[in-house]
Amino acid sequence: MAPAPVPGPPVPAPAPPPDAKPQASQPTYGIHSSNFRFPNGFLWGAATSAHQTEGNNIHNDWWAWEQAGKVSMPSGKAADHFTHYREDFEMARDLEHNAHRFSLEWSRIEPEEGHFNVEAIAHYADVLRTLRKFGMEPVVTLHHYTLPQWLAEKGGWEFARIEHYFARFVKRVTAEYGQLARYWITLNEPVVHVFKSYLIGQWPPGKQDWPAALKVLRHMLRAHVRAYHIIHRERPDAMVSIAKHALALSPNDPDSWRDRLSVKVRHYLFNHLFVDALHTGWLRVPGMFWERLPAGRTLDFIGVNYYTRDFVRNTGFDLSGLTGASAQGGWRQHIGKLNDLGWEVYPEGLAQFLREYSRYKLPILITENGVPAREDDDRWVFLYMHLWQVARAIADGVDVIGYLHWSLLDNYEWADGYRARFGLIEVDFETGLRRIRPSAWKYAHIIRTNEL
Ligand code: GAL
Repeated sequence: MAPAPVPGPPVPAPAPPPDAKPQASQPTYGIHSSNFRFPNGFLWGAATSAHQTEGNNIHNDWWAWEQAGKVSMPSGKAADHFTHYREDFEMARDLEHNAHRFSLEWSRIEPEEGHFNVEAIAHYADVLRTLRKFGMEPVVTLHHYTLPQWLAEKGGWEFARIEHYFARFVKRVTAEYGQLARYWITLNEPVVHVFKSYLIGQWPPGKQDWPAALKVLRHMLRAHVRAYHIIHRERPDAMVSIAKHALALSPNDPDSWRDRLSVKVRHYLFNHLFVDALHTGWLRVPGMFWERLPAGRTLDFIGVNYYTRDFVRNTGFDLSGLTGASAQGGWRQHIGKLNDLGWEVYPEGLAQFLREYSRYKLPILITENGVPAREDDDRWVFLYMHLWQVARAIADGVDVIGYLHWSLLDNYEWADGYRARFGLIEVDFETGLRRIRPSAWKYAHIIRTNEL
């Protein structure tokens, strides 16, 4: 473990020479001397989710999916963060983090329909108080992919009454925690969820069914709108959003008009449709359907998760063909490395999305950005290159309010199990031992100086 840098005695500022002219007022952020300064109050930290770190989430649909042998590895005890959250947050504090994103595990809070578990409720109250005590602003995710198994058995997100069940859960937890948290994420990556669970069938409930996917999308939108109003009733100054996965896209063959068309369709469906719908109050799938949501303007900021770029190949002219397929090993124009899961490292995509999402005229919080890397130097290069893109966007006038690295800890990467190492803190999954990686100390230096 790298030693924590020891702060030296304060150095008094040199007195100005007697004939010095008064200085023009300094900008609070931007490029000055040789460094880039981030805005004052910038939120710096990391993100996690319950099922990926806590361990033994035995009452949710992912646990059932794992036990049914649908993925290579079960989550098991994961990083046992449920027991060790205090030590983990202590390390985050030592690493200078001033914000932290985590998710409430609905299946712990409501393991059986209508029965709220008081110990689980007390547990998350302590998680929130501990974060506050350590000086970290909590960013609370209400739904990060997992559902209580009892609700999954009723049909999960396909079941129209899920809106009602979600609203009841949100009412309960905001009544409990509304005063402890201002930042709320209703849904993590709803479009990725729909894609993985209802179009390619890799995640529970394992469907490949376009009509089901569209139904789920509508239910998620409506569930968000209800949750938005519930949170605001409890806490009028709340900042509510979703965590939107932004996936950079390029045509597999830039000379193919069909591939270019598919990039446009996929870009709209994947990167814009959901946010547009919440912003305008209209769900629009051009040429297919329009639907009015119960309300518009239900985002107070835009939460952005950014990782990589995909290459798209057109496969036809129905909705699925127009959306195209991710090209595997076809024509490529990448110049960077591929990470441990084979995804391209493509930092400029982050600045592109920050500019694109600034069109909503809302603050932007980067709710996830990270890399699976066994070589920690690769993590540091990734982190630095992406922060450079964040700085670029801020210098161009984009209102970015914070950056949360994925992830604080090595964790369970869904269908990819434990082979992907995303943590600023390494976890030995046999012994549970933690070790702070060197990249985490370098990140701490950026946070401490608020400069790049
Ligand atoms: C995001 C997701 C996280 C994590 C990360 C790394 O899409 O929200 O749960 O798995 O990707 O792949």
